[in-house]
Amino acid sequence: MDSGQGRMIDVMPQAVSSSAVFRRLLSMLRPQLGSIALGMTLLLVSIPAELFPAFVWKFVADGLVVGKLDSTTAVLREWFSFGGRLSSWPAVLISSLAWMLGLYLVYELFSTLSRNIMERVAQRFILDLRNRVYHKLQSQSLGYLQRQRTGDLMSRAMGDVDELQAFTVNGIDVIIGEGLLWLMTVVVVMTIDWRVASAALAPLLVVYVLLRIFNARVAPIYKAARERAAEVNTRLQENLSGVPVIKIFGREAHESRRFREATERYYSQQVRAINARSLYFPFTRSVGFVSNVAMLGVGGWLILTNRGFTVGSLLMFRAYWWRLFGPIQTLARVNDMVMRAIAAARRVFEVLDAPDELPDAPDATRLDRVRGELALRDVCFDYPGEAPPTPTAASAPRHVLRNVSLRVEPGQTVALCGPSGAGKSTILYLLLRFYDPLHGIVTLDGVDLRSIQRDSLRSHFALVQQESFLFNESVLDNIRYGHPEATLEQAVAAAQAANAHGFISRLPQGYHTPVGERGVRLSGGQKQRISIARAFLSNPRILLLDEPTSSVEPESEAAIIAALDRLMAGRTTVLTSHRPSLINQADVVYVIEDGKVTDRGTPSELRQRNAWFERFVRSADDPDWIDGDTGPLPECSQSD
Ligand SMILES: Nc1ncnc2c1ncn2[C@@H]1O[C@H](COP(=O)(O)OP(=O)(O)OP(=O)(O)O)[C@@H](O)[C@H]1O
Ligand SMILES: [Mg+2]
Repeated sequence: MDSGQGRMIDVMPQAVSSSAVFRRLLSMLRPQLGSIALGMTLLLVSIPAELFPAFVWKFVADGLVVGKLDSTTAVLREWFSFGGRLSSWPAVLISSLAWMLGLYLVYELFSTLSRNIMERVAQRFILDLRNRVYHKLQSQSLGYLQRQRTGDLMSRAMGDVDELQAFTVNGIDVIIGEGLLWLMTVVVVMTIDWRVASAALAPLLVVYVLLRIFNARVAPIYKAARERAAEVNTRLQENLSGVPVIKIFGREAHESRRFREATERYYSQQVRAINARSLYFPFTRSVGFVSNVAMLGVGGWLILTNRGFTVGSLLMFRAYWWRLFGPIQTLARVNDMVMRAIAAARRVFEVLDAPDELPDAPDATRLDRVRGELALRDVCFDYPGEAPPTPTAASAPRHVLRNVSLRVEPGQTVALCGPSGAGKSTILYLLLRFYDPLHGIVTLDGVDLRSIQRDSLRSHFALVQQESFLFNESVLDNIRYGHPEATLEQAVAAAQAANAHGFISRLPQGYHTPVGERGVRLSGGQKQRISIARAFLSNPRILLLDEPTSSVEPESEAAIIAALDRLMAGRTTVLTSHRPSLINQADVVYVIEDGKVTDRGTPSELRQRNAWFERFVRSADDPDWIDGDTGPLPECSQSD
């Protein structure tokens, strides 16, 4: 199994450093600066309140128990006794405890408000990010989307964004909240006694070095873990959509094994990450504990040797110890969260940064009304991402389309016919500007498609394909998919024109019957007629029909052809079909073989002079021969 199959998107260079990714992630929080500032302010107010209880400890120990007032305790005594109004020690003790409790409540209130705001910021960030990813994917060209694996894209939009959610929701709170608290604590302990504080903080340098090593080791592991997760997702998605094929060929065991292999690869990356964490985290924790030892050692020594350190200060340091080293312990966890977020963010940014492959020209115009004249002029085309055709000694370079020129007059019906794989559907995609040609030009009413805004261009087209895609909604919603504002009456009229009204009326809930995923509850012919009704309702100037009757049985075909006749009336139509009955309705037929136009004429002209076409019409009942691989082509292949 290809171990790199989770990575399909081919942009963002790995050279982008982790810190750049991290900075970009933070810069995306910019629109919410207002809320962040409010949250931080509340946090800043809450921190002194949080740090206060340790002062009470010191006051009670030094000021009340030992009876030794230094500058700090003197100020506190002033506060707790309300400027000397309370004089007995029980009253001052109770007052100091009340202060302690009161300020704790202030801390709780402010920090809760602040956390609430910060968590909303994080959720809003994720909301926007996920929608940005969706919007980007939706606006991407078909070529880009077809090169990706759906499961991989889904895992970027869901799993990777979720990973970022874990980081932003917990990370912002922990990084900013604990970080600020930690900094203030450092300032306070440094002011109380820099000697004890330095001894206690020194081991942090070791923690820092350890984390740097850990990060370098774990970054590729987390990246691989995200890719393996995408691989699992891709397998799941493909297997669920391919269930009928898996069942028909009895490949359940095989697919289960492949799925298991994918999950095991994911598992083994996770185990590598767990091992890395088990190796480094205990070190950081132990180093944290060493500082506890240093604090007690240096503090005790200073008290015993009478060097200006008091028992109250030692108690206070002890009270702050958790404030100093709790965050160090969380630091390892947060650092880990950041590393994972960076791995996920890279994958999300790859989607966001993928260039638009089909940009509109800068001066692209809207075409509000069109006559419906279409043309391809000397068009060559290859699907993007394919290796460019390489000329060999034996053969000239082969493109999917080679120097194709064709012209469709307004209101005309033009049929493209030719062997399977010749390039007929590709021509329809170029007309819709799903792709741009490599050379040559495609025009609508004489205007290069690249100079027409894409949405305005496509609003003039309807496409009916061999397999029509229906959404898991009601029949009615599917008919008016392109025009949700249409009334029930309009939808019914469209369905009648599409010969669909009869069967829809017999469905359990009529027009409100849900069609199931991709329309599984309907037959092929029924789905096709719903998609024809959809085309009727959108009333396009130009109609593209790509084998509209190929997947239905003859009885249904008659009803569909009758509906298509009505639909084609008065519109420009380009159709492809392997059914002569449909081809015969065309004004002009182009024979496409091996990416080239090899003949052009009315159906009757071609029947007379084109051997391929004559055989095509005659062999309608035996579609096998149409496949381009079955034997040499008749003489209608013309020279280049
Ligand atoms: N998305 C794609 N990516 C790469 N190559 C493609 C893609 N779609 C089609 N092709 C290739 O382009 C060529 C033309 O395909 P196209 O679908 O246009 O043929 P067609 O004439 O419509 O065939 P059929 O009659 O079977 O529908 C084929 O060789 C096919 O393999
Ligand atoms: Mg086709």
